[in-house]
Amino acid sequence: MILVTGGAGFIGSNFIHGWLAGGTSGVVNFDKLTYAGNPDNLRPVGTDPRYAFVQGDIGDYDLVTRVLSSHKPLAVVNFAAESHVDRSIHGPEDFIQTNIVGTFRLLEAVRSYWASLSGDERNSFRFLHVSTDEVYGSLEPHETAFHEKSAYAPNSPYAASKAAADHLVRSYHRTYGLPTLTTNCSNNYGPYQFPEKLVPLVILSALAGRPLPIYGDGQNVRDWLYVGDHCDAVRKVVERGRIGETYNIGGNSEMANIDLVRLICRILDGLRPRPGGQKYQALITHVPDRPGHDRRYAVDTSKIRAELGWKPAETFESGLRRTVQWYLQNSDWVRAVSSGEYLRWVDRNYARREQT
Ligand code: NAD
Ligand code: TYD
Repeated sequence: MILVTGGAGFIGSNFIHGWLAGGTSGVVNFDKLTYAGNPDNLRPVGTDPRYAFVQGDIGDYDLVTRVLSSHKPLAVVNFAAESHVDRSIHGPEDFIQTNIVGTFRLLEAVRSYWASLSGDERNSFRFLHVSTDEVYGSLEPHETAFHEKSAYAPNSPYAASKAAADHLVRSYHRTYGLPTLTTNCSNNYGPYQFPEKLVPLVILSALAGRPLPIYGDGQNVRDWLYVGDHCDAVRKVVERGRIGETYNIGGNSEMANIDLVRLICRILDGLRPRPGGQKYQALITHVPDRPGHDRRYAVDTSKIRAELGWKPAETFESGLRRTVQWYLQNSDWVRAVSSGEYLRWVDRNYARREQT
């Protein structure tokens, strides 16, 4: 089996679904269940005997050590993180604790577990750290896409904390020989994403008839990848990636935020027309910008394509349509996440942003 951290979150839960669907080996999901960790995301695999859940913090060295020695995983895939840029602006402390200190303690526990292995178990063990393209900073319109040798230049507390974690992972390979792999992926969208992130926020706000908040001029560009394609890439890297290497992952789908939001609106106009006959686009509202807002991300994926034969299965249009359909079809999941912490966050992040 493998140990997945942060498997109750958006990408981790999609990864676990894919892993269990695609093979015979099991998964232990180690997750703290923060506001972003949602047991409902794993409901479809809850009764699968190959699936086990442990609630815990990656920063809890003793607990991680116990879980490693009792389950003896062949690999650890580290998704656990605080992941939202806007929250890192409101309160960076949790990002430092989980993304830096937590990753450090996890690395320490994994290092000692790996040192206890021998023979094939030791040779085949891998530690895969899931990271982001945001560690590279922001691109100007004319600049070429981020590649694995691009300099790190993080601009938000979130990106800085992920960059620090990436450096720690690198150092554990170079210094201790730990068989690490790191992936740096662009923006994901798909099922089970907490609606603080742009795509589900826009889908759910549109359906509720609420404003669709666009930061600044809406011309910030992101490269979008369907979550299933990211999970497929992570799986290929953990199975066949070269030890000590980093792999960039992306959808080759650059889009300005305003265009993305308009596209979601058009898909919704087709699938769930508004009762009064108005277009969803009428809900678009420009609000003051995010401080330090990166202008553009773009990812060069030639390395993973050439070495591991990975490429996305979904186009941006097909993946987005599939995603909108999923949110329309999963109203129970949507209802459950649209209360409590979600409402507190909407109030905290948007109430004081006046419309521009
Ligand atoms: P998420 O916020 O949806 O989920 C994070 C999960 O980690 C949650 O289940 C949470 O409970 C858990 N967690 C948080 N702190 C923990 C701790 N201290 N110990 C154990 N578990 C903890 O995040 P996501 O969007 O699924 O992202 C997963 C990973 O992928 C993150 O490392 C993120 O940086 C990276 N990433 C995300 C994107 C994206 O677009 N969402 C893109 C590239 C990389
Ligand atoms: P987000 O989903 O938070 O991902 P990230 O900041 O990691 O790229 O945001 C995606 C883009 O959408 C980003 O440029 C910020 C912008 N955005 C808005 O314009 N309005 C919003 O309400 C949110 C949450 C994001």
